[in-house]
Amino acid sequence: MNYIQIMGVLKKAGLSTVLLFLLQAKTFSQVQPLPVPLRVENLICEYKTNPIAVDAANPRLSWKLITQDRGVQQTSYEIRVGSNAVSLTKGKDIIWGTGRIYSPQSIQIYYGGPMLGSRQKVYWQVRVWNNKNQVSPWSMVNFWKMGLLKKTDWTAQWIQDTYLSDTTGGPAPMFRKTFKLDRKIRAAHLYITAHGVFEAQINGKRVGDDYFAPGWTSYNKRLQYNVYDVTSSILKGLNAIGVTIGDGWYRGYTYNRKKNVYGKKLGLLCQLEVVYTNGQREIINSDKTWKVAYGPIRSSSFFDGEVYDARKQKPGWATGTYKDATWDTVKTDTTIKANLIATSGPTVKKHEKFSPLKVLTTPAGERVVDFGQNLVGWVQFKLQGKAGDTVRLYHAEVLDQKGNFYTKNLRTAKQEITYVFKSDSVETYEPHFTFQGFRFMKIVGYTGPLDSTNVAAYALYSDMAQTGSFSTSNKLVNQLQHNIQWGQKGNFIDVPTDCPQRDERMGWTGDAQAFCRTATFNMDVAGFFTKWLKDLSADQHKDGAVPYVIPNMLDSTLSAASGWSDVATIAPWNIYLAYNDKQVLQQQYNSMKAWVGYIQRHSRNYLWDTGNHFGDWLFYAGTNYEDGAALTDKNLIAQAFYAHSTQLLINAARILGHSDDVQTYTQLLYNIKKAFNSEYVTPNGRMISGTQTSYVLALNFDMLPENLRASAAKRLVSNIEDYDEHITTGFLGTPYICHVLSRFGRTDIAYDLLMKESYPSWLYPVKNGATTIWERWDGIKPDGSFEDPEMNSFNHYAYGAIGDWMYRVVAGINTDEDDPGFHKIIIAPHPGGKLTMAQAELETLYGKIKSAWTIDQGIFTLDITVPPNTTAQVILPSVTDPITENGLDINTVKEITDIKKVGNDEQFAVVSGSYHFVYTLRVPGKKN
Ligand code: BGC
Repeated sequence: MNYIQIMGVLKKAGLSTVLLFLLQAKTFSQVQPLPVPLRVENLICEYKTNPIAVDAANPRLSWKLITQDRGVQQTSYEIRVGSNAVSLTKGKDIIWGTGRIYSPQSIQIYYGGPMLGSRQKVYWQVRVWNNKNQVSPWSMVNFWKMGLLKKTDWTAQWIQDTYLSDTTGGPAPMFRKTFKLDRKIRAAHLYITAHGVFEAQINGKRVGDDYFAPGWTSYNKRLQYNVYDVTSSILKGLNAIGVTIGDGWYRGYTYNRKKNVYGKKLGLLCQLEVVYTNGQREIINSDKTWKVAYGPIRSSSFFDGEVYDARKQKPGWATGTYKDATWDTVKTDTTIKANLIATSGPTVKKHEKFSPLKVLTTPAGERVVDFGQNLVGWVQFKLQGKAGDTVRLYHAEVLDQKGNFYTKNLRTAKQEITYVFKSDSVETYEPHFTFQGFRFMKIVGYTGPLDSTNVAAYALYSDMAQTGSFSTSNKLVNQLQHNIQWGQKGNFIDVPTDCPQRDERMGWTGDAQAFCRTATFNMDVAGFFTKWLKDLSADQHKDGAVPYVIPNMLDSTLSAASGWSDVATIAPWNIYLAYNDKQVLQQQYNSMKAWVGYIQRHSRNYLWDTGNHFGDWLFYAGTNYEDGAALTDKNLIAQAFYAHSTQLLINAARILGHSDDVQTYTQLLYNIKKAFNSEYVTPNGRMISGTQTSYVLALNFDMLPENLRASAAKRLVSNIEDYDEHITTGFLGTPYICHVLSRFGRTDIAYDLLMKESYPSWLYPVKNGATTIWERWDGIKPDGSFEDPEMNSFNHYAYGAIGDWMYRVVAGINTDEDDPGFHKIIIAPHPGGKLTMAQAELETLYGKIKSAWTIDQGIFTLDITVPPNTTAQVILPSVTDPITENGLDINTVKEITDIKKVGNDEQFAVVSGSYHFVYTLRVPGKKN
């Protein structure tokens, strides 16, 4: 077979890109000796590799430079886009070729070719030139495919079942359709969405590996559809498609047992588009010719679990030969006007598997499996029963003081799986339209053996690549980082939720804003937040008030709380900083402005002292909740966040070039701060709430005049000392407290807080066996009893916001805010807390950054990596000269420039590459 023939075969198998790469790599290796000094890899389009449903008219393209050399900067690039992969590599049939563009930009470049139509698939390649007169080979070929861009592209009809009681908790309808294809096909794609959550099959094979699709959005305004390449599942001749739909977020139980939030009726809309080898397209639409029946899923609910009766399975129901004479015909509904959009964020997928750590019998005599990790997902089993027997699984996060299974903190959420056996043989099951937050699983109705061969827990969460890692010489701190990451996994299920286990699980805005920046370090959350922020704009009220939860399913009065609604400005800004994503600022600008406008209209003389606020939620309240000494005045907080949101709006306006707004809001900010000082600060700088949060917010948001800041920082420190170096902040003060201490030269106190093991502190839950972040500082109290079960989640990420300080200050990986997206990196490690080692890595859009330090007998070693096409400012602490880099005095290393001493620090600039620094640490009080 020649090249073209091989490509033909692979194309049919959907593998053309892979092979093209291999063939190219071979071609390159023939003409150019490996390793290639400069390569381009990781081509992404709208944050995805080879997306097949893009609805941005001008999608953004990014790539990474791969090189072993130091000091590599891209000086120019060339992109070429074509509609045929093979021609593209020959430079033929190019639909958009940029030619050589003299620019260092390698991320977020807008496609600028002719307008692409619905379903159009284009291939693209990049090559780059660098400052060392090297040119890369053309990259491998990647592609993107456009979604259905026009309403008229949708020829399918919404179909529904005919179930009588159209409401929450009914059986999951199964829809099916057979169709014949008498010719060979070139490609087949399924475009599909639902009212509810769907699982599709073609010829008995599951379509894709997404769960809970089409995800959760503000359904009535924005309903996502998913697209799957199903070419390999289609047969010549008879085919069948089957789709099951569960209640999901659409009509399932939610907060306060509210149901049918978006509608009563489940529905399916899909079109299977087949393209024959001659290019002709045929569409199999959802329409009145489909059949519907009910099967084994008797009910499903995110809160309550699933009831599955295996006796009601319909074997082969999604294959062509299945006899469906007894099935009902479907109802069609042409009145639904859904605002369909392509799925843009990462979809929920199945991730880690956990085998039982222990199988135990509790003092109450219950049989419980401990999976060793508080996770969000479900249990899969292979068990043997008797036909008609029922096995029940219950899920809990913790055991109580006595070691018994504890579910009171789930409130009304049942988290229960009921399974009825169909036979006397081994049966395999995993749930479909539910998820549980749990570490422990209680089993009832099964007494046989339980071990890793027949029971496993799976974590399900949005498919975000893990980008960050952080570890130190302190095991408890490492466990804290583990807990932060698992808090993120468990609560990033299509939207950022508060908690994943009790009857809540909503997109609480305060929690999301507190944790958002930390989230950008742990995982790639660009697509995740960009999508959610669109729902924020969609659900923001006309007067600018931002609801407490997004997507909003609460009453419209439940909106506009300080520190919660400010997610409207804080999240876009954090995404901009992490990914240099100006588009998210553009997309959210009106929303940001509307939120600040809302506060403006509800303020008098620039003071916002009205409205309902949650305040510094769950601060340390001693024994007297809401009345402790650490209680911060809610209006003071509101004013501080008013200023912060206004500042972020100014920042966005500056970046987007809205100079009038910059002026207007700068004046407003001046007045907000003035009002803050006259209302809440004495002339000597004492604040009316003398709490940690009060000083933290005032200092972090630059509320105080310069001359009062140092004394305010001292007051903060003495407050912390009054509490014997314990943290007393709630959701709003916690993200910033260590940053403020570091900024004012008291990283030592920040470390005291981090290292504290007694309550309240970050390590107190760790010492108590936590594997995720707790909602409260004392979810389990020092006496071993639980906090109020009405509000006691053991998987709530807000306090995990310390992660941001751990990456940015302990390991010291930061972006310069004036050149964000880690294009200009700041590496400024801060040793302390008796740590002898800390290291972090962060995979950015440019490549991997690393900062790893050790202290051994007074010798400080720092290893850093600065990705190609970026530069870094390095700030080394407590320096005594000389500093060496790989054994050489840094003054002699050509990649190190602008060396200067600032106090005890030494600062310099480095170009890309890896470096190994060593020096002796200055001993405090000693002349070095
Ligand atoms: C949630 C929180 C949320 C809060 C609002 C709680 O029930 O779980 O995390 O932010 O309500 O105060």
